[in-house]
Amino acid sequence: MNKKNILVLGIETSCDETSVAVVKNGREVLSNIINSQIKIHEEFGGVVPEIASRNHVKNINFVVKEALKQANITFKDIDVISCTKGPGLVGALLVGVSYAKGLSLALNKPLLGVNHIEGHIAANYISHKELEPPFLCLIISGGHTHLVHIKDYNKFEILGKTRDDAIGEAYDKVARVIGLGYPGGPKIDKLAKEGTPNILLPKPHMDNLDFSFSGIKTAVINLHHKTPDMNKADLCISFEKCTTEILVENTIKALKNLNINTVALAGGVSANSYIRAEFEKLKEQGINVYYPEMILCTDNAAMIASAAYYRYITGETSDLTLNAIPNLKIN
Ligand code: KG4
Ligand code: ZN
Repeated sequence: MNKKNILVLGIETSCDETSVAVVKNGREVLSNIINSQIKIHEEFGGVVPEIASRNHVKNINFVVKEALKQANITFKDIDVISCTKGPGLVGALLVGVSYAKGLSLALNKPLLGVNHIEGHIAANYISHKELEPPFLCLIISGGHTHLVHIKDYNKFEILGKTRDDAIGEAYDKVARVIGLGYPGGPKIDKLAKEGTPNILLPKPHMDNLDFSFSGIKTAVINLHHKTPDMNKADLCISFEKCTTEILVENTIKALKNLNINTVALAGGVSANSYIRAEFEKLKEQGINVYYPEMILCTDNAAMIASAAYYRYITGETSDLTLNAIPNLKIN
């Protein structure tokens, strides 16, 4: 293999996906195996941390082997071993971190722990080979809602974030209460397509670029409890409309403040078809809008390997004191 190429093995175990990937030069995915535990957690209505950790332990060996097999390489071809160090569930993170440390020691290869949120941002580099910083990134996932100025590959400034629920959390809670099940985001997405956005929900007004979703979530839940036979599809699309308006408004404000015209969406909720359709409309205003391909929106290891690549090429590595940091912040 041409050694000018850098192959990064990525390991992602921050929540309920055991994922391992091999990515070449930060942007070319040779394999991206995602072993989802959704079926296991479904009956509990959400992720059970202890069960997630145990299943990562059970799965990881097999998923690593499969990732190497699909990439058609062996351990000796790998240049860097990367893993998510946080944020996430501590027990789940520790499985990936410990495995990566063990591999790094056994193979005598550099180790690199990366921030999961940086991974979500990097998913866009894989899907859009032409995308380079600077740009604005709207990270919308189960755990985060952040507007971040990507000044350079490893230089970030948070411009706004949620003051209460992450948007994905609000989607999941609404879905659970109205009886759609877990994970709620994709279920709301599907049902909303049959509805009309005819229910007015209270939209919070912020004087900065922060977000708030708990008031809207509570309003939907209260409406459902007071009027149980209210059309659920109408409720879903009204909820999507109200939350998306906030995302779009803050994005436009941030782009104006920064005087740039490129925004990339990232995170599990960026798979939402209503949100994508509304952001598509920004293109008419001359704004460049990017989304990762569907499989790279939700948690996966290819995005972790990509983020690791952009740190590794600056000379950064981790040592064996690397630990899981459940509340790790960006920067
Ligand atoms: O990025 P992700 O896989 O995990 C975190 O880092 O949090 O995001 C998971 C979140 C869940 O809340 C899930 O309901 C939501 O992404 N999600 C969606 C859709 N697909 C996944 N939300 C709305 N519409 C979707 N199509
Ligand atoms: Zn995530």
